[in-house]
Amino acid sequence: MSDQFDLSERVAVVTGGGRGIGRAIAVELANAGAAVVPSARSTGEIQAVADEIRNDGGEALAVPADVTDPDAVANVIDKTEDEFGGIDVVVNNAGFNPDDALGRPNDVPTESLDRVLDVNLNGAYEVTTAAADGLLESDGGSVINVASVGGLVGLPRQHPYVASKHGLVGLTKSLSLDWAPDVRVNAIAPGYVSTELTDDLESNEQLRQSIIDRTPLDRFADPEEIAGPAVFLASDAASYVTGTVLAADGGWTAR
Ligand SMILES: NC(=O)c1ccc[n+]([C@@H]2O[C@H](COP(=O)([O-])OP(=O)(O)OC[C@H]3O[C@@H](n4cnc5c(N)ncnc54)[C@H](OP(=O)(O)O)[C@@H]3O)[C@@H](O)[C@H]2O)c1
Repeated sequence: MSDQFDLSERVAVVTGGGRGIGRAIAVELANAGAAVVPSARSTGEIQAVADEIRNDGGEALAVPADVTDPDAVANVIDKTEDEFGGIDVVVNNAGFNPDDALGRPNDVPTESLDRVLDVNLNGAYEVTTAAADGLLESDGGSVINVASVGGLVGLPRQHPYVASKHGLVGLTKSLSLDWAPDVRVNAIAPGYVSTELTDDLESNEQLRQSIIDRTPLDRFADPEEIAGPAVFLASDAASYVTGTVLAADGGWTAR
């Protein structure tokens, strides 16, 4: 791989780094040379990812946190800086789209909307601001927000998720202005990716086929296909890229 993609001097925190897209991003950042801190609530899952990275010769430390808990988030940043001497990359990937937040606005309780915004948007803000000092001190500070095609267009019957992801895209753009030229801030907008989050969609044959029919590349993505864009955005290959949203959606939003 060209030196431009080399992350060997970088330290990265990946929220939601225990499974799915976050796990793939954590592993791929480590393969590019970064020391990686996978974080999520499930200690066993993030520990397994850290073990996997270390077994492959990389550096990793699992630190559990709920992104809605400021003390736990502060602990992730402290532990990262203590262990690896700084922080260069934050990947805000923790997110969910629970059943009680699906439906038309009058069917979805306000508490469900609040919960989705709390994790998907406020959680990313919490982690980013907790890491701000370290990011601003870094020579290659970079924030990568894992949004969604639901951050670019509306999706029926999931307004809490769509509002949270549009908010995350707005946060990406604003922070990119406020932190330029010191820290680059970008987002990735995945299309449909095979993970636990989309298990229900994929097991409903009619729904699965309608998504595939709507996707020019004709399939769901593997989580690893979202990790390449994250490595790119974290690296010097993206040194002039900030405030942007990279759609990794199989062409879904090109229609
Ligand atoms: N799969 C897709 O098709 C797709 C498409 C577009 C965007 N995305 C976005 O990609 C991201 C990852 O999704 P995924 O598909 O990989 O889902 P996933 O397999 O369900 O993984 C979600 C990760 O987020 C963590 N998480 C959830 N709530 C958290 C909280 N409050 N605090 C800390 N960590 C939390 C989970 O761990 P714990 O439960 O252990 O905390 C898990 O590690 C999400 O932001 C999602 O919106 C996914």
